[in-house]
Formats: sequence, structure tokens, C-alpha cells
Amino acid sequence: MTKPRLWITRRLSDATLERAARDYDVVVNYDDTPGSAADLIAASHEFDAIIPCHSEHFTAEVVAQFGERLKIVANHSVGVDHCDLPALKARGIAVTNTPDVLSDATAEIAMLLMLGAARHAVAGDRIVRTGAWDSWSPAFMVGKQVTGARLGIIGMGRVGQAFAAKARGFGMDIHYHNRRQVSEAEAQGAQFHDTVESLLGVADFLSLHCPATPDTVDLMNSERFAMLPQGAVVVNTARGALIDEDALMAAIDSGQVMAAGLDCFKVEPGGNPDFAAYDNIFMLPHIGSATTRTRDAMGFRALDNLDAFFKGETPGDKL
Ligand code: DGY
Repeated sequence: MTKPRLWITRRLSDATLERAARDYDVVVNYDDTPGSAADLIAASHEFDAIIPCHSEHFTAEVVAQFGERLKIVANHSVGVDHCDLPALKARGIAVTNTPDVLSDATAEIAMLLMLGAARHAVAGDRIVRTGAWDSWSPAFMVGKQVTGARLGIIGMGRVGQAFAAKARGFGMDIHYHNRRQVSEAEAQGAQFHDTVESLLGVADFLSLHCPATPDTVDLMNSERFAMLPQGAVVVNTARGALIDEDALMAAIDSGQVMAAGLDCFKVEPGGNPDFAAYDNIFMLPHIGSATTRTRDAMGFRALDNLDAFFKGETPGDKL
């Protein structure tokens, strides 16, 4: 039987690529450069399936130029804000994502960012590394303690719950806002707030775990930063679109926000060059899910979805 033709847009884990090569007629972009609009359009004529990452943008304009061959976009990501879902659906192209398997890795990065932002990781690392550490004082690099502090989580889905579980281990008092109140088994005692505004008022630490949609663009704007307790710490491992970056810098300048930990930016790759002046913005280059175990699990989950689709079944993660 002829194997379906599959294009893999980026350098996925070795285990994923081996399995893909066994089961599909696969072409891998070993250059590992993001697929352009022209690449995606060309691929839609030549391949039955694509496994892309969030670096490939399936806009309505691109999808409108697709050929007839492409049947499924099996994303290697949980976020699908890079896909115009109605446009793909209108073309009859199935779309899947990879939920669950990256929740712990992303929650770990959120914890790293929260602690690093609260405890001056950027400045501390630099003064030791550069040999500039020439004195010590009890007034030196005094940070903000997480133990016993109130943590506000926006988006109590899988990643939000995984982060809450880790924060519980640090003795934090957990509050959340979500479109719907989650079950008690999922909340594990976290207190529900039915509005973002109510949550912000108690968020000594705030962590964003909701998707980027037209409704959540600039969710954290100047009005909302002003609602946080004085000296709050803000963490974002979800999407850069959620934060008005100028408003964040203004909130840091005014002291409303003490520090931020960011894995996501409005412009990626690259980030916001203006953030470089702020030692109290601890930054990472969108690596929340970048562990060996999680990369394998994401790749396998994308392949599981493809396997189901080509067996004539509904993929488990069909959107
Ligand atoms: C995701 O899965 O959405 C991560 O941000 C990596 O793409």
C-alpha cells in the first residue's frame, strides 16, 4: 500500500523522525528554517499531510491558495493560534494539536521564570559570571518570597493545573480565573474568580496559561497591570500576544510590577529589544516544552493523530 506523503517542517526529535520515516513517505526540512507561505502552499499540492510547529503560519490568505492534496495539518504544538481554523475547516483540512504531553515541561519553565524573576536571577548570574561580585550585604539582592504568597493563574487548563500543582509544593495560596469553573478534583482547593479583575486584585504572583485568541490579545494592558498588588511578579509561558509589552515596561517603571518572567514575546524569534534594559525581566526564548522527553511525546502524539486519520478514524486531538 502506498504510504501517505508527509512533510515535516522542522527538526523534530530523532525518535519522532525515525517513526515518521517508518510509516510515511516523509520529507523533513533538515535546514530547520520556518516554512514560508510559499513553502506551505507548495506543500499543499505535494503532500497528504503536514506536521508543522507554531513557526508556520496557516493564515486565511495562505490557506486560500492551497491545492487539493493536503488532507491534514497535525500540529506539533498545543497552541494553534498560528492556524486559521475556520479557513482550514472550510477547505476540509483536518487539524490536530498535542495537548497534555507538554503540560509538565511548560509548568517547570513557568516555575523557573517565577523564581528567577522574584530572586534577581539575571543580575545575580551576571555579577558572579563577570567577576563583579566584590561585596555582600543583608541588603543585597533582596527578592520576593513565593512561600505563602498568593498566586493568580489565568487559564486553568492542563498547563495551568500542572503549574498549580508545582506551586502548591512551594506553599503558595492558589487562585485562578478560567472561562468556566473547573471541578474540585482539577482545582485541588484553588479559589475560583469569575472575572480577571477579581483575580488580579489578589495576584502577588500572576501566571498566564490561556490561549492567544482575538479575545485575549493584550489581556494584560495598563489598566489591568494597575489592578495587581503593588510589587507583583508576572509570568508568561503561554503566548506573547497576551501582554501589552509597553504597558508591562511602564508597570515595572512605576514599581507596580516588581519583575517579570517571560518565555513568549509579541515578536518571535527575537523578542522585544527594549526589555534588555530591564534586569528584572528574566527571559527565555520560547522553550517551555523543550525537554527530550516532551519533544518525543509531542512528536509521537502528532504521529498518533496522523495514524488515526489515515486509518479512517477520528484523531484523538482533532480540533
Ligand atoms: C506549544 O506547543 O504551543 C508551544 O508553545 C510550542 O510550540
